[in-house]
Amino acid sequence: MRSHNRIEVMHGVNLDQLGRRDLGHYGGLTFDRLEQTIQGFATELGLQVRFFQTNAEHEFVEHLHRIEGLADGIVLNPGAWTHYAWAIHDALEIAALPAVEVHLSDVQQREEWRRRSVVADLCVATVSGRGPEGYRDALTRLREELDP
Ligand code: DQA
Repeated sequence: MRSHNRIEVMHGVNLDQLGRRDLGHYGGLTFDRLEQTIQGFATELGLQVRFFQTNAEHEFVEHLHRIEGLADGIVLNPGAWTHYAWAIHDALEIAALPAVEVHLSDVQQREEWRRRSVVADLCVATVSGRGPEGYRDALTRLREELDP
């Protein structure tokens, strides 16, 4: 087992509603199934994942405050917060762990306001528009980052 292998997978606002959201952008996978799929990718890659989801911005921020010593890296999909929640940017900076940003949909090809990410500058990579497979890409990238 790798020594730096604990990944926190953090989902933000409205991601728990997958399965009820626009199928064209997000597909039909429910949130539970998405987490199971991510768990499968992690097992294949020899990584240990823990999941967190909230619709409350302060809980997302506080989770990042508490993460020190509990995780070696972060995969985050903050949902719409990605585009404007500077408090999440600052909390991610405080967490000071390698992070990869993931979006199921291709945010560059949608509305103009989705093109900006307030967390991208703190992330080692951004994966967008690859659906659930994007999480495999993100975990693979983090794995390289943590234990090259
Ligand atoms: C999303 C893209 C965001 O723009 C949107 O607000 C979401 C989901 C994605 O995974 O594609 O809630 O982060």
